[in-house]
Amino acid sequence: MDQLLKRIPPLLLDWYDGAARVLPWRSEPTPYRVWVSEIMLQQTRVEAVKPYFDRFLNALPTVQALAAAPEETVLKLWEGLGYYSRARNLHKAAKMICEEFGGELPSEKAELLRLPGIGSYTAGAVASIAFNQKLPAVDGNVLRVISRVLASRQDITSAEVKKAMERALQEIIPERAGDFNQSLMELGATVCLPNGAPLCLLCPLYGLCRAADEGIQDEIPVKTPKKPRKIERRTVFVLWNDGRLAIRRRPKKGLLAGLWELPNCISDEQDEVLREWGIAPEQLAPIGTAKHIFTHIEWHMQGVSAQTEEIGGMTWVTPQELAEQYTIPNAFRAFLPK
Ligand code: ADE
Ligand code: SF4
Repeated sequence: MDQLLKRIPPLLLDWYDGAARVLPWRSEPTPYRVWVSEIMLQQTRVEAVKPYFDRFLNALPTVQALAAAPEETVLKLWEGLGYYSRARNLHKAAKMICEEFGGELPSEKAELLRLPGIGSYTAGAVASIAFNQKLPAVDGNVLRVISRVLASRQDITSAEVKKAMERALQEIIPERAGDFNQSLMELGATVCLPNGAPLCLLCPLYGLCRAADEGIQDEIPVKTPKKPRKIERRTVFVLWNDGRLAIRRRPKKGLLAGLWELPNCISDEQDEVLREWGIAPEQLAPIGTAKHIFTHIEWHMQGVSAQTEEIGGMTWVTPQELAEQYTIPNAFRAFLPK
């Protein structure tokens, strides 16, 4: 372990005491609230999470309420946050907590790791923030901050490098473990910014940071580039019949599994699909284009609308029923009636 790391905790905790954003899960860090917040924050920024967090906690204030809720309710509360497997795993985990852990979130990392949706980072975050266990919680923010402080050019996309980081941080975790972990995340989110843009002159670690000292902040962290995303051209259909529009359920497996969607197809297959539905191409009116970026794929969509007969295999709903009862992923938002 690099001795430099030992100087970090007091500096960061002092800074955090003045700089920490007031966030709903921080003001009242019960295990359930911390867990839900950490799952929401896995792939979503703090500002986007806040309103979802408040609404979710209002509707489902306890593990028991979450476990007892129908899946549709949980997905509806998640609508727009994306990465819906997080909501499904949260729901499954709540049932497990009620059945196997007496209705209380476990405080031990090994037990937290048994719950669906919880990996090393989230287990460490929940155990430290909610139960004040002295454990690290290493996410992308933490990897970036510590790599820069140490001027380390190790590849942060490597699982080995992440494990080594957890071992190193384990040795310096102070008594205020949850605050310390959050101070590292907070520094990464507000000061030690990604993409070569850190605000070093505002940073409490400026005096000891090797990357700042050497002027190489923009070269660190080193990451293996991701594979470029596959681009799919899709046609999205807004089909109306007597004031109702057609939606259908996506397959149980794969992208946006089991959620509702506007009918759509690969644009190259549009003619076949129209023939199958008995729609003539002249019936279609263009309603604009939209893009949606998923983890491994991008949809470049063109929307078309048409008045049609009732087509089999679809569910026909009024705009109001759609808004109130069905979860439609953001990808389709641009084409939905306002
Ligand atoms: N990102 C992940 N967990 C967080 C937390 N507890 N506070 C702020 N940002 C976070
Ligand atoms: Fe990051 Fe700059 Fe602070 Fe170093 S001094 S930790 S590079 S913000």
